[in-house]
Amino acid sequence: MAQHSLSDRVAIVSMSCTRFAEHFDRSADQLAVDAVTDALGGVDLTPDDIDAYWLGTYVSGISGMALARPLRLTGKPVTRVENMCATGSEALRAAVYAVASGAVDVAMAVGVEKLKDTGYSGLISPKIQDDGTRVNTSAPANFSLLAPAYQKRHGVAPEDFRAAMTHVAWKNHANGALNPRAQFRKPISKEAIAGSAQVAGTLGVMDCSGVADGAAAAIVVRAEDAHLYTDRPLYIKALSLVTGSGSGAADEDYDYTYFPEVVECARAAYEQAGITDPQRQLALAEVHDCFTLTEIVLMEDLGFAERGKAWQDVLAGRFDRTGDLPVNPDGGLKSFGHPVGASGLRMIYECWLQLRGEARDRQVATADRGLGLTQNLGGAPGDCVCFICVVGTKLGRPDA
Ligand code: COA
Repeated sequence: MAQHSLSDRVAIVSMSCTRFAEHFDRSADQLAVDAVTDALGGVDLTPDDIDAYWLGTYVSGISGMALARPLRLTGKPVTRVENMCATGSEALRAAVYAVASGAVDVAMAVGVEKLKDTGYSGLISPKIQDDGTRVNTSAPANFSLLAPAYQKRHGVAPEDFRAAMTHVAWKNHANGALNPRAQFRKPISKEAIAGSAQVAGTLGVMDCSGVADGAAAAIVVRAEDAHLYTDRPLYIKALSLVTGSGSGAADEDYDYTYFPEVVECARAAYEQAGITDPQRQLALAEVHDCFTLTEIVLMEDLGFAERGKAWQDVLAGRFDRTGDLPVNPDGGLKSFGHPVGASGLRMIYECWLQLRGEARDRQVATADRGLGLTQNLGGAPGDCVCFICVVGTKLGRPDA
């Protein structure tokens, strides 16, 4: 039993992302068509030129027909995938595996979600039939448990942790204000964030990601074919997925101060990509800031900060757009909202722009490091799936 690295075998040659917003005037079908059309346009291909499609959607369609129908595809393999909030990333993983295996030459990953009309929010989510032992609390309530646990374990004053949470929201909204594709495009003051209406525990509305509609897409080919399509491909360096067993709530050793699935997923991703010093080797990271405190804990799980110290690094601006390691320079889930099936691909889209020097006002100064990481999390502390992708501008291992 083993997981082998697919590093440098597959390249992304085109990407697209719609604006994430409350799209009253567009159906999920239309959003998917928009994303597919833009991605095809980037490399002058037609829908028929794609050998196989993977559609990631959480609740906005069933089966591959949810994409085949609006695209009017005939005779094509189209598969719908779902893995909670990591759904969009799963679509990419499947497309990359298909190309790496030699089964197809050109594959497309599409993520789409239309949530606003459904009434979905972090406070209302589908209840899945189970054996009755699962904790049935809301997403904000689940994640809010991280704050008192972290503060106690690391001896952090609640007001200091609150300040770090506020900084995350402030930073991500400031970044989103520069991004034409973000849902919320206004900078928000620290006072407004810290004083926002309480949702769960110490989480206020401004600590939560929003709810949005949107779509994104990527076209992948074999690495050796990439220059037939673009002179600036992004190579897949690592694809790592860890699915938790959901034992957290029943595990006496789990203390709600970290995500074991993320730690293991990052270890595997760094090994695949040859990353030995993520803080200095990565140009940027797009992480799953579903709630502000999630981003703080992720900085430690991903090896960007020492245990118990991420809140200080956040406050020192290390993860600001102009910091040592920019995190969520596109504005993250905080300013984009979270159309579940599209978010993972939206994160990779920011790496696509930043590493190709196309992020305009948001361009990070660290882009020449040439490596970007995305981290997509589904579920809750102690009960989650984690996906990590590393993409890079050059072939070869960074540690070579
Ligand atoms: N961040 C910033 N602004 C937000 C926001 C958020 N998370 N949520 C809503 N707003 C804004 C809206 O843009 C709107 O502004 P406007 O009046 O200027 O148009 C206003 O607040 C009210 O919006 P509304 O949609 O009525 O908010 P709501 O009260 O229904 O929803 C939350 C607020 C916090 C419940 C919702 O954003 C939420 O559920 N977030 C969490 C999503 C989640 O848990 N996802 C899963 C992650 S694992």
